[in-house]
Amino acid sequence: MKFFTIFTALLIAIVSVNAVAPDADSACRCPNNCSHKNGSSCKFFQDGNVLDGSCGDGNGGLTCQV
Ligand SMILES: *[C@@H]1O[C@H](CO)[C@@H](O)[C@H](O)[C@H]1NC(C)=O
Ligand SMILES: *[C@@H]1O[C@H](CO)[C@@H](O)[C@H](O)[C@H]1NC(C)=O
Repeated sequence: MKFFTIFTALLIAIVSVNAVAPDADSACRCPNNCSHKNGSSCKFFQDGNVLDGSCGDGNGGLTCQV
């Protein structure tokens, strides 16, 4: 039972990390998001919220801008 709970929590964590990038940079950059370009839409976590934006110049490369 305990193992199952941990497994489920882990699975949810993996799935949610896949859905939304942990920060603005990885939402638009390699190795995570090499296919994103200038203007691609992106999502990332900030202060516990999911922010929607588009990829653009900043922070030394492509970054997700809201
Ligand atoms: C993204 O687009 C802007 C405005 O069109 C441009 O100034 C900038 O150089 C581009 N950046 C990249 C990384 O292509
Ligand atoms: C790639 O970008 C999408 C949209 O911004 C994001 O949901 C996803 O988590 C990113 N992938 C990684 C591995 O960060």
